Amino acid sequence: MLAGLRLISAALLPLALTVDAGLIRRDAVPVTIPFARRLNFTGTAKLIELDQARAKTLKARANSGFKQTAVFDAPATNQAVDYTTTVGVGNPPQNFTLLIDTGSSNTWVGAQLLTNPFLPNTSGFTGNLVSVTYGSGFFIGQEFTDTVHLGGLAIENQSFGGALVSEGFDDVDGIIGIGPADLTCGTLIPAVNDCIPTVTDNAFSQGLIPAHEIGISFEPTSSLDNTNGELTFGGVDTSKFTGPLNFVPITSTSPANEFVGIDQSITFGSTDGPTVLASTAGVTDTGTTLLLLATDAFDTYQNLTGSTLDATTGLLRLTPDQASNLQSLFFHIGDTTLEFTPNAQIWPRALNSAIGGTSDFVYLVVNDLGTLSGEGLDFIDGMTFLERFYYVFDIANSRVGFATTPFTDATTN
Ligand SMILES: *[C@@H]1O[C@H](CO)[C@@H](O)[C@H](O)[C@H]1NC(C)=O
Ligand SMILES: *[C@@H]1O[C@H](CO)[C@@H](O)[C@H](O)[C@H]1NC(C)=O
Ligand SMILES: *[C@@H]1O[C@H](CO)[C@@H](O)[C@H](O)[C@H]1NC(C)=O
Ligand SMILES: *[C@@H]1O[C@H](CO)[C@@H](O)[C@H](O)[C@H]1NC(C)=O
Ligand SMILES: *[C@@H]1O[C@H](CO)[C@@H](O)[C@H](O)[C@H]1NC(C)=O
Repeated sequence: MLAGLRLISAALLPLALTVDAGLIRRDAVPVTIPFARRLNFTGTAKLIELDQARAKTLKARANSGFKQTAVFDAPATNQAVDYTTTVGVGNPPQNFTLLIDTGSSNTWVGAQLLTNPFLPNTSGFTGNLVSVTYGSGFFIGQEFTDTVHLGGLAIENQSFGGALVSEGFDDVDGIIGIGPADLTCGTLIPAVNDCIPTVTDNAFSQGLIPAHEIGISFEPTSSLDNTNGELTFGGVDTSKFTGPLNFVPITSTSPANEFVGIDQSITFGSTDGPTVLASTAGVTDTGTTLLLLATDAFDTYQNLTGSTLDATTGLLRLTPDQASNLQSLFFHIGDTTLEFTPNAQIWPRALNSAIGGTSDFVYLVVNDLGTLSGEGLDFIDGMTFLERFYYVFDIANSRVGFATTPFTDATTN
């Protein structure tokens, strides 16, 4: 659906609030906000099509100097799986439901112009336009600054987009981009050489949070709508993980290094079992649902599991015998090995019919990235992977942390 068009007169809007240097506080504590997962497959696209379109756009965007003109060749269609949180904008705050995205870094609102037509009257127009293309949609809007409220945080002078046109975001108001700030560079028009501090950057520089990092927890679910995720700004929630947090540097390989990218290899069955994915760079991404592997690695996985591609869902499928023999995948990330259990590799059976599948079939969350390995972005560890671990994006130290959780080994489906 193409959202309506809106123009706001800059003259009606007061200027942005200024940041008071006296705000820097020594007693800042991490702030945790809940987030929800919602499944809605009323659209026509399959889960894998949406995820592959996103993979393509991540690569294209990284390779394009001007982020707003990145290739947009996927059909615009509603997100089938949403991870959302509530973000307040302005004084008093007006609430918006935004997608949480580590694969992009602009924050914007206004996708639901018909139901939510006005921005807070405290938001100041900067004179720039802002535009970002995503896997299955895009937005073009005006750049504003205002106070952005996340849980108890009031982040002042936060830049955000107010959509004039958007496509592919039927169930949400926009996006809160929490990836690396460099992904915002080139998104402003005409200020194409400017970059925009993210909400995390501003919260940290304004002294509102004690560390320049984000901790992300969420848990496997078998229901269509579940608020079991948690986003911690400025620290980690130690109650959400069991093992030590192990960090690896952001990969140096382009284009994965523009995102929350890491190096990893994957073996099957044991830590020294057959190699599914040879050591290579890819990304961790809250905006992707499945675990996508470069086509050659995906083919190896398919052979090792004996699975067949199911035409209806686009997912790999196992017979009951194959399912009972399914083995763990071992992710070698830095000095750490993370075991991704057979149960974790199986799409929640209670949600089979929600994706157009048959209720007692076994579908797998591992799928095809759509390109061969060797392109510098050879996997996406999406939400079905991340939900089995605690996950930290340590911006200050350009590194990514993982820890085991009570759900790492859990039989959840
Ligand atoms: C407010 O944010 C804008 C855009 O991010 C920035 O250019 C400007 O310097 C900021 N103003 C203050 C007072 O911090
Ligand atoms: C699912 O998405 C469609 C548009 O694709 C929307 O009309 C509908 O309201 C959504 N349903 C729920 C429960 O969010
Ligand atoms: C906005 O959302 C916050 C956090 O979910 C909530 O506490 C607050 O009551 C909401 N405000 C309004 C006006 O709905
Ligand atoms: C701005 O909007 C708020 C309600 O959200 C209202 O109370 C206030 O009077 C408005 N201010 C101006 C200057 O219009
Ligand atoms: C998968 O198995 C088929 C049939 O045995 C074989 O032709 C193919 O080379 C194998 N592919 C990989 C990537 O192992």
